[in-house]
Amino acid sequence: MGHPLIEALHETTSNLVVLLVPVHVAGALVSSLLERQNLVLSMITGNKRWPPPGAEADDARPRPAAALVDC
Ligand code: HEM
Repeated sequence: MGHPLIEALHETTSNLVVLLVPVHVAGALVSSLLERQNLVLSMITGNKRWPPPGAEADDARPRPAAALVDC
């Protein structure tokens, strides 16, 4: 039907999504258990406890860029 290259690309990327969504959901569940809070529910309510229970006060704000440079 379409261009074979586009079809192959579409198949590969859709397989990747099917593979990665369960990995993502598993990560969300593991994070929820470790942080002892329901992250899936927080996507609906918009409410999240931060810092998570037991975390250092120093960890008071999310620093996504810090994760990239391992500091
Ligand atoms: C194709 C499907 C999905 C895509 C593209 C996707 C994408 C994303 C992205 C971009 C974020 C980061 C949002 C942010 O930090 O602002 C995120 C977070 C999250 N996602 Fe997904 N997601 C998908 C499916 C799901 C499903 C099916 C679940 C659970 C049933 C889920 C649970 C979560 C949770 C718990 C978070 C973390 C929220 C938080 O920590 O505040 N996701 N997702």
